This record gives sequence, C-alpha cells and structure tokens, in this order.
Amino acid sequence: MLRTHTCGELTRDHEGTAVTLCGWVQNWRDHGGLVFVDLRDRYGITQVVFNPQSHPDVHAVARTLRSEWVIQVSGRVVLRPSDMVNPNIATGDIEVRADALKILNRSKTPPFEPSAFDLPNEELRLKYRYIDLRRPVLRDALVLRHKLTQAARNYFDRHGFLEIETPMLGRSTPEGARDYLVPSRVHPGSFYALPQSPQLYKQILMVAGLDRYYQIARCFRDEDLRADRQPEFTQIDVEMSFVERDDILQIIDGLVAEMLEAVGRSAPSLPLPRYSYAEVMERFGTDKPDMRFGMELVDISSIVANCEFGVFRNTIESGGRVRGLNAPQAAEKYSRRIIDELTRFVGDFGAKGLAFFRVKDGALDSPIAKFFDSETQQAIIRTMDARPGDLLFFVADKDAVSSPALAALRNRLGRELQLYDPNDLNVLWVIDFPLFGWNEDERRWDAEHHPFCFPVVEDIPLLETDPGAVRAQSYDLVCNGCEAGSGSIRIHDPEVQGKVFALLGIDAAEAERRFGFLLEALRYGAPPHGGIALGLDRWVMLLSGLTNIRDVIAFPKTQRAADLMTGAPSPVDERQLRELHIRVDLPAD
Ligand code: AMO
Ligand code: AMP
Repeated sequence: MLRTHTCGELTRDHEGTAVTLCGWVQNWRDHGGLVFVDLRDRYGITQVVFNPQSHPDVHAVARTLRSEWVIQVSGRVVLRPSDMVNPNIATGDIEVRADALKILNRSKTPPFEPSAFDLPNEELRLKYRYIDLRRPVLRDALVLRHKLTQAARNYFDRHGFLEIETPMLGRSTPEGARDYLVPSRVHPGSFYALPQSPQLYKQILMVAGLDRYYQIARCFRDEDLRADRQPEFTQIDVEMSFVERDDILQIIDGLVAEMLEAVGRSAPSLPLPRYSYAEVMERFGTDKPDMRFGMELVDISSIVANCEFGVFRNTIESGGRVRGLNAPQAAEKYSRRIIDELTRFVGDFGAKGLAFFRVKDGALDSPIAKFFDSETQQAIIRTMDARPGDLLFFVADKDAVSSPALAALRNRLGRELQLYDPNDLNVLWVIDFPLFGWNEDERRWDAEHHPFCFPVVEDIPLLETDPGAVRAQSYDLVCNGCEAGSGSIRIHDPEVQGKVFALLGIDAAEAERRFGFLLEALRYGAPPHGGIALGLDRWVMLLSGLTNIRDVIAFPKTQRAADLMTGAPSPVDERQLRELHIRVDLPAD
C-alpha cells in the first residue's frame, strides 16, 4: 500500500507516530510561512502542515499544490495547539507535520469543489459525477446503501433463502410500465425486454421447488420519472413457497428491523402495524399515509348536508362528500395569499376549490362563514376538534378527487407546520387492497398490483358479481409516506387465474401469448407461493434523510433518462444498425 493510514483514522493516540497518507488536496492555505493542506480520502480529512524551516524542499513543492491533486505525504503525528483543535472532525485533535511529499497526479481545475457550500446545478454535477461523489453526503449514502444490502444478504442467508440471479435479457413482464427493448442480432426483428422486475421468473423458481428466493435485482421501467423514481432501479426481491400472507409480513418485519439496526436506527417495535386499505383511505386519503403526524381527514357531510352553502349541499346531493382537516394553530401563519396558493395546489389534483375557516372567538371566520348558522359552526368546531387559532380546510367532491387532494394538502401542511421530526421513521403495512381498480378512461378493470395476485379467499365469489369489492391478498410497506415495498400472495390455481384474466379483458389467447410460459409452468405442480419487492433506492433515500433518489445511486439518470457523464443514450454506428436490420425513422422535426 502507498499509505500506512487513512485520512479518517488518526487521533491523539497516534501522537508521535510516523505515518504516510494518500488523498486529494481539498484545501490549501499558504500563510507565507507554513502551508496547511486538508487532505481528503473516503474516510475523512487530515490536516497536514509543511514547514519552510525544517523541510524547505518539501515546503517548496507544497506551495505548488492545487485543488484535487492526488498526493502522498509522510510525516509525524503531532497534537494541534489547543486553539486549533477542530471538534467537528474525527481527526481534529491532530495534524501531520510533513517531511516528504510526492505528487501522485495533478488535476485539471475542477468544475466545482466537492467541499463547496454553494453547489452548481445538478446537470454539471452529474456530468462530473466522479467529483460529485467525492462529497461526503453522496459517499455516506453509498456507504449506507452497502450496509443495507449487506444486512439484507446476511438476514436472508440466516433464514435459508437462496440468492438467485434471473435474466436481464428476457420477455416483457407485467409491471405496467413501458419496456426497454433490446434488439436481437441472431433473431432479426425480435427483441428482448429488460425486466421491469423478476416477477415471473421468481414465481417459476417456486414451481421449480427452490422454496425461498431473494435477489438484489435491477429493474428497468420506461416511465415518467419523479423525485422517487428512476428508469433503472434496484429491488430487494423475495419469493417464498408454502406461505400465507402473514408469513411474508413476518419475514419482512424482521428484515426491516435488521436493516434499521445495521444503519444505527432504533429498532421498530414488531410486528409493524397493519392497516387496511379502506381504513387508511378514509383517515388519510392515500394508500401511503405518513403517520409521523395526525391531522387526519374528517367527514362533515352529515353536518353540512342542509347548509346554505350551495357548493357543499350540491356536492352531497350528487353523492359526494365534504371532508377536511384541521391545521393546528395555523390561522395566523397562513395569509389569504398563501391560502390562494394552497387552493391552486389542491386544484392540481382536480379539486374545484378549497373552503377554509379560521377558528376565532368560538366561531368560524371566513368569507363563506355567513352560510353556516351558529349551530352548524359549533358542530363543525366540535367534529374537527378545533381550538382557537386553528385553520380548517375542506374539499367538497367525490372521493376520487378529494382523497388525493386532501392527502397532498395534509403532507404539505404537516411539513410546513413542522408537525413531526424529519428524522423520525414511521414504517407500516397497508393490507387488503382491492384486486382491481376501475379505469374510467378506458372503462375497464385494471389490476391494482399485477394480474397474479390471489384474491382474499372469501371474496372469490364476488369475482362474478362485484369485482370492485374483491380484496387482494396484497400488501404495501410504507415508510414516511413513501411506498417502500409491495407484494402479494400469487394465484397458483389456473381456474382462478383464468377468471382474473377475463375480468382484466385478457382472453385465453392473449394470456397464452403474453404469459404462456408462466401459465404452462403453473400447470406442473405449482406450490402456493407469494412474495414482495422492496425498493432499495427508496430505503436508502429515506434512511439517509435525502429527498432525491439520484443522490443514492452512484450513476443515476436525469429526469429525461439520460446519463450526462457517458452521454447515454446515444446514436450508434450505421454498421451496428445494419447488423440488427434496424432502420431509424425519425419524425421530420
Ligand atoms: P412494484 O412495481 O410495486 O412491485 O415495485 C416494488 C417496489 O419497487 C420500488 N419501485 C421503484 N423505485 C425506484 N424507481 C422506480 N421507478 C420504482 N418502481 C418501483 C417501490 C415499489 O414498492 N414484482 C412486484 C413485486 C412483487 O409482487 O413481489 C413489483 O415489482 O418501492
Ligand atoms: P365560489 O362560490 O366558487 O367563489 O367559492 C367560494 C369558496 O368556496 C372559495 O373559497 C372556494 O375555494 C370554495 N370552494 C369552491 N368549490 C369548492 C369545493 N368543491 N370544495 C371546497 N371548497 C370549494
């Protein structure tokens, strides 16, 4: 090794030791006499001092150093004078008095300094990702990511799971996004699809008798990207045979506890709480509730059904509801201008308006308060558990509009009003999802998760009579309001599978064409089985306290699915296209 120690490990215990360090020049300060260099590597920063009296030659070279040059320094560890101790870094008690210096490599002037307080825009950082990754936040996220995967691997190994790789070049899978396609040279005109998940392969591994499978699996989905979505991401993917729903929840409870422990978080109390889909939709308006804070949705329809305010009355008459929430002590914090902004905010979710009331002198204060007699106002105050200084918001609409609007409003207010500690972790299960969701645009049923979820057994007769009421044996793992995992017990009975396909409008011929290989496998002795996949990137993001999924992936893609460092995707040689029998036919503009 070119070094004896790292830049993060020397303490007062090393006083007097001769050491050699390697790293990058983060900062250098030339005080006319002494030259100070902050030397950085993956492990930390060590201050190095060059003295013109004791080592004039070495000092002369030190004066030529520049940002991000790579150097090797030898010297002796000494205690810093007490006024120069830096309690903020692990090596803050010591410095290294250099007696030798070797420049291992020079650097062009970097486009930005990894230690800069004001960072340049993300495009520039993604283009020079190797410099960006020198920043401690990104390094720490990758370290945490490693610890999580390592903890998961140990946990699964102890519980008898086999880590099995499944193909990247495969057939289109049913996760519902667009596929990334790879043309075959050997089979002109045919394409592989990169896996949206290993779903079908892992089910087939159960048919093969492999019983307990896991994989740290790369998944590819060509879909619209957001802060918590990447086109290429990683799942902790699991499948088990001879299990019921609760067996899977229990195994994953243990995994979550172990992952949290591995990154120094306090253990959650197990079992993780479970809530039905129906309950969380009613209380929070979303299937991924953030329960770090209260501010639950409240239905006041019965109180305002006959009030003078037409918007409320008419909505209820036409089958909608009036629901709202109580923003505690927010009456003074939210001006009319901000409330107008909140009205536009819920408008993005389709809400036609946002009624609000300040609670003042035991009554409601609002431009529309006059439409509510005092008895109604008192009933609203009681039902909303409102106190003077609170601010009440209501949306009148059908649930399909008001639930997402109020859920988003609740999350925003919870954050703005600091109703929770951002470092808290809140992990829970949502169970008993509906098997189908009604697709209003295309006027048909869609699978809520995917077409292979087993219905709740007592609901199977409803497949014929009331498909919307059929619950699935599926479950989501939710962390701080983010979907951090999702899975189900699968259908292993070809007859039930046929019924589900029929309801989804997939006839036998199409089912054979798309999933024939799975259906065939299920006919050769498929054990009852089920599984789940956790979004690894999302877990790293949540546990690092970061809000952008790109910050937890070494080489992420932009919102437009581009890799700015390598320039992917890019045009390819004419020759490559010819071999694949592909002609590029772009629209005129
Ligand atoms: P699902 O599609 O719900 O289920 O994915 C499982 C989990 O993966 C994470 N995730 C993503 N993370 C980052 N970027 C994305 N684009 C992205 N899409 C999903 C989420 C999600 O909960 N085969 C099934 C699992 C199963 O049934 O076993 C599946 O893939 O955290
Ligand atoms: P308008 O009578 O349309 O001017 O609305 C009066 C107030 O009621 C405004 O504050 C609107 O934001 C609010 N409002 C309008 N429609 C709704 C609705 N569907 N739900 C809740 N509030 C509404």
